[in-house]
Amino acid sequence: MQKNQVRKAVIPVAGFGTRLFPATKVVKKELFPIIDRDGRAKPVILAIIEEAISAGIAEVGIVVQPDDREIFEDLLKNPPKKELFKKLSPQNQEYSRYLEDLGSKITFLLQEEQLGYGHAVFCAKDWVQDEPFLLMLGDHVYASDIQKSCASQLLDVYEQVNQSVVSLTTTPAEILHTAGCVTGVWQELNSILEVTQLYEKPTIEYAQQHLHVEGMAENEFLCIFGLYLLSPKIFDFLAEHINQNLRERGEFQLTSSLDRLRQEEGITGYVVKGKCFDTGLPDTYRQTMIDFRNF
Ligand code: UTP
Repeated sequence: MQKNQVRKAVIPVAGFGTRLFPATKVVKKELFPIIDRDGRAKPVILAIIEEAISAGIAEVGIVVQPDDREIFEDLLKNPPKKELFKKLSPQNQEYSRYLEDLGSKITFLLQEEQLGYGHAVFCAKDWVQDEPFLLMLGDHVYASDIQKSCASQLLDVYEQVNQSVVSLTTTPAEILHTAGCVTGVWQELNSILEVTQLYEKPTIEYAQQHLHVEGMAENEFLCIFGLYLLSPKIFDFLAEHINQNLRERGEFQLTSSLDRLRQEEGITGYVVKGKCFDTGLPDTYRQTMIDFRNF
């Protein structure tokens, strides 16, 4: 294995999905169906896993609540019941076999207590070990504008810059309060950014004062797109936050540890050529259902 080859992806799916209550009382948001570009009805998590595998990732670690493990295993590890399998079209039977192969690349990791996104990432530490890894949000799916998928684009940039990379998208000021935001200095205009600050869910006033990026409109900022290529050093900073009980809004978040990682090793931002679909809110989920299939 080459020193910096990225082999592993981590997908945390252990949150409660409160913004999609009451549906999430019975269905995990990462299992909500979407219609993919191949026309299949897939649980969101499956489209995310396929994005990772098609980018060349060999192993996927999925962080689950202990009680949810069985349902994810049912989807990703167990074949369908014989009676169902027999009734499937030949194409879907073939897809079902392919799913079993996909399942062999998946490991379940447990988050015993729901202490936040950053804490969920920390739960993957022992599985990731000392390798760079791709981190993917459990409620976002991606459509590339170019031949190369969004995750592949990120892997390419990582190879080029040889430090952690966060994927970015241009975001209007009105939705900054929902996202992790960055600022920095362009290395390649409108594409590759040396990140100089990361800030979780800023107010518009804070963003206007501190997060403006040269050449961008007054009311547009760069926010994280849901994909990260991270050095394993991130676990040291997450451990520090957890040991010192440094919580934000009651939870251990990722962004503050990312900012520590930036100070220590540097972080590159990459404006992805593509679109990110958020399925974690009622209206963005609805929009994903409409737009994703034909994007
Ligand atoms: P979100 O910020 O979307 O949180 O998590 P959430 O709890 O799932 O949803 P809301 O905000 O209550 O509606 C981002 C990702 O991190 C996972 C989620 O499953 C999601 O994929 N996560 C979050 C965990 O795995 N564990 C946590 O404790 C929190």
